[in-house]
Amino acid sequence: MTRRKLLITGGAGFIGGNFVRYMVDKYPDYDIYNLDLLTYAGDLSKHQNIEKKTNYHFIQCDIANREGIFNRFKNEKFDFIVHFAAESHVDRSITDPEIFIKTNVMGTQILLDAAKEYNVSKFLHVSTDEVYGELDFNPSTFFTEETPLQPNSPYSASKASSDLLVRAYHETYGLPVNITRCSNNYGPYHFPEKLIPLTISRVLNDQTVPVYGNGANIRDWLHVFDHCTALDLVLHEGKDGEVYNVGGHNERTNLEVVKTIIKALDKSNDLIEFVEDRLGHDKRYAIDPTKLEALGWDPTYNFDTGIEQTIEWYLSNKEWWESIISGEYREYFKKQYSVK
Ligand code: NAD
Ligand code: TYD
Repeated sequence: MTRRKLLITGGAGFIGGNFVRYMVDKYPDYDIYNLDLLTYAGDLSKHQNIEKKTNYHFIQCDIANREGIFNRFKNEKFDFIVHFAAESHVDRSITDPEIFIKTNVMGTQILLDAAKEYNVSKFLHVSTDEVYGELDFNPSTFFTEETPLQPNSPYSASKASSDLLVRAYHETYGLPVNITRCSNNYGPYHFPEKLIPLTISRVLNDQTVPVYGNGANIRDWLHVFDHCTALDLVLHEGKDGEVYNVGGHNERTNLEVVKTIIKALDKSNDLIEFVEDRLGHDKRYAIDPTKLEALGWDPTYNFDTGIEQTIEWYLSNKEWWESIISGEYREYFKKQYSVK
């Protein structure tokens, strides 16, 4: 039997990296190609345990490089694609939107062209609930797959644009696609510019935690492992052309999240520092996952068990995040938070 070839873009980042390891272990009979440019958000040290496995391969390439991407598709003849590669941080998109359009929109279009040219049997586009915009604080309202796209940040606008291109390639050319829209992830190897790893790393170093506005904004948190199982399911069982929302009903205000971490680490709430609000800060995200559950998805973690596992992981893997919060990250932090 010929081995199936799975291309994972952005597999050196947070979620893509967790997905690469999950798939390499689960499917020894798939050849898994991790294609990544290795931007500031990508690192390969997280793959030390799998890099010698014969079913794991790494390709360094920019998804916005048409010739490079087409050459890879021509050589490898991938059977399916799970597309994570993106600029992913809202704050960076507010400061510098252009790279978000290049990578998230133009990069996706190039991958779609290559997938069409080389007849891949599935293009799974990993998107975000942020494309739906924001919900109000009424706890009975949720994002469904029918919620209109109303992105508010340059990041979410670039992701919504790529979602529409994926849809159009299905409708126009019959490309077999799925789109998943997941809520906020957290877990091992989360880059410490995002709220949860930023809080854990700063609290462990007895540094203040910047909370935007009054901390009342709500996010719906999903452990990255449960996102991986959802993607595996949609890749193999998703109906062509369909969108699936991914989330496990774990809504928390930002202040609750920060206080939970401070308490678990036995530190003081005096570390909380309320800072200027994010521009266009979305109030609330909350997912209705009914459609994915009907496909058979059942998450393993709730927020309490997931955050406990994640804090344990950051305590046991200090060398990974300590190496990241030096260098370029330090400059970013100073600029973002106006620290002298
Ligand atoms: P991340 O920033 O941690 O990783 C992105 C990866 O993409 C990095 O390895 C980076 O090197 C790579 N990359 C960036 N530009 C590239 C380019 N031009 N060519 C090739 N590779 C490039 O992101 P993440 O948090 O793991 O998110 C992955 C995907 O999941 C994104 O598409 C994001 O929109 C989506 N998503 C994220 C969340 C979340 O909570 N983080 C939630 C839902 C959906
Ligand atoms: P983030 O982790 O950047 O994810 P997203 O913007 O994609 O939801 O932010 C999560 C929430 O935490 C968001 O409401 C903004 C807030 N936040 C802070 O209050 N302080 C911070 O330093 C950061 C990075 C985020």
